[in-house]
Amino acid sequence: MWITIEKKSDCSLMRQIYQQIRDLILEGQLAPAEKLPSTRQLATNLGISRSTVLEAYNQLIAEGYLIGNHGSGTVVSSGIDIVSPSPKTAVKKHSATTVTVKASTTSVINFQSGVIDSSRFPLSEWKKAYQRSLDQIPETAFGYHPSAGVSTLRQTIAAYLRRTRGLTCSPDQIMIVSGSTQGLALIATLLKDRKKTVLIEDPTHPGLRQIIERAKLNLIGIPVDDQGLLIDSLTSHPNPAFIYTTPSHQYPLGGILPIQRRQKLIQYAIANDTYLLEDDYDSEFRFEGQPVSSLYELSPDRVIYLGTFSKILTPAIRLGYLILPDQLIKPYLELKKYSDVHTEALTQYALAEFIESGGLEKHIWRMKKIYAKKRQCLIDELSRHYPDKFEIKGHAAGLHMVVRFNGVVFAPPLIDRINARQVQVYPIANYVFGNKAAYGSDILLGYAHLTFAEITTGITRLCAALREPGF
Ligand SMILES: Cc1ncc(COP(=O)(O)O)c(C=O)c1O
Repeated sequence: MWITIEKKSDCSLMRQIYQQIRDLILEGQLAPAEKLPSTRQLATNLGISRSTVLEAYNQLIAEGYLIGNHGSGTVVSSGIDIVSPSPKTAVKKHSATTVTVKASTTSVINFQSGVIDSSRFPLSEWKKAYQRSLDQIPETAFGYHPSAGVSTLRQTIAAYLRRTRGLTCSPDQIMIVSGSTQGLALIATLLKDRKKTVLIEDPTHPGLRQIIERAKLNLIGIPVDDQGLLIDSLTSHPNPAFIYTTPSHQYPLGGILPIQRRQKLIQYAIANDTYLLEDDYDSEFRFEGQPVSSLYELSPDRVIYLGTFSKILTPAIRLGYLILPDQLIKPYLELKKYSDVHTEALTQYALAEFIESGGLEKHIWRMKKIYAKKRQCLIDELSRHYPDKFEIKGHAAGLHMVVRFNGVVFAPPLIDRINARQVQVYPIANYVFGNKAAYGSDILLGYAHLTFAEITTGITRLCAALREPGF
């Protein structure tokens, strides 16, 4: 659903919102029972006051277009005939604020992993930070930049990590990359001439596996348990080019690697003259206690730290960073230079300004509360519809959860049955390259991007599919 407003129009903001929602209903683009965004959400997205949106909604309720349900939101009324679009109310698109609002809860509910709640993106703060950064930057900022990235952002990230994670590194070690995807691809290319194998957690993210394989490196999966990597399994695989690991929040199972294993892992890295690639993709979103300390702090010479702004802010800016041991900086910079010269710079200035003004930490703090509530909603719904027969794996953190359904095997016929009920879930077996059978009852449920209503509906549909005879 598109809502477009023009602040300079002689038609009031309330009237513009009212007319557009009314037209969407009359044109059949908003169906009966379809849920509208909350007034708070729409107001935030449009950068206007909530009372304006409330006034428009109330008008539409009064005229019978919408029904306001106290506590469960506003939905489109039924029994309205569809009429052809009315050109007279169309608002010109240029110089307008346009936002896309989430689809209705009647469509497919996709429990995809790692997708942020875009409706809560701090658009107004981001716009202001972007504008301030453009106002402040020197003319030279419009030319080429060093391959390491914009130095203000590198300094800002170093200070941010010290403040929030207690992680100490020099800004000179921080290399800005276009997301962790590029960071991992560059590291795989950089290290592939040393040795030909890479050890990787099993299960792991299939996309990340692909990145390493595309660098023509052989992958060996190392099993994990509920605390992460099983270090004893490493001994049968000496001399890898590097080990890929997610010690703060194992992807996808959610374990936190305990200090004893961290120390053994580092001992292995030293004994085998190899590197540990620490992918710290979502550790800020830990709902119980503080974020876990990094592996990097324990051995800055052996650990390559990979951070990203994709989960904590948005993947759209494609900004991440590597923290490199000194000896890798020079060969890395050469590789990056002949790869893409440098990551897009203007957004780097804006991000530095956004972090320095406190916008990022405020956003993380806010999202942590929202994601924790969504996680709890998911658990509550599972308890309601499938009591005592499921287990949650991993720690209370991140944007997804792995759930084991005792006695269920998520084989293709069952997945088809679940999909037929308009729900998409992700069997953990698809993330495994060793013992798939051990994970046959486990699925991944990403919840961050879903509304509370979507989580409720999705779990109701999923559990109904699981209860069908024959499964
Ligand atoms: C474990 C893990 N690492 C890295 C990434 C990639 O992140 P980016 O957007 O920074 O490339 C993802 C994306 O979902 C992920 O799940």
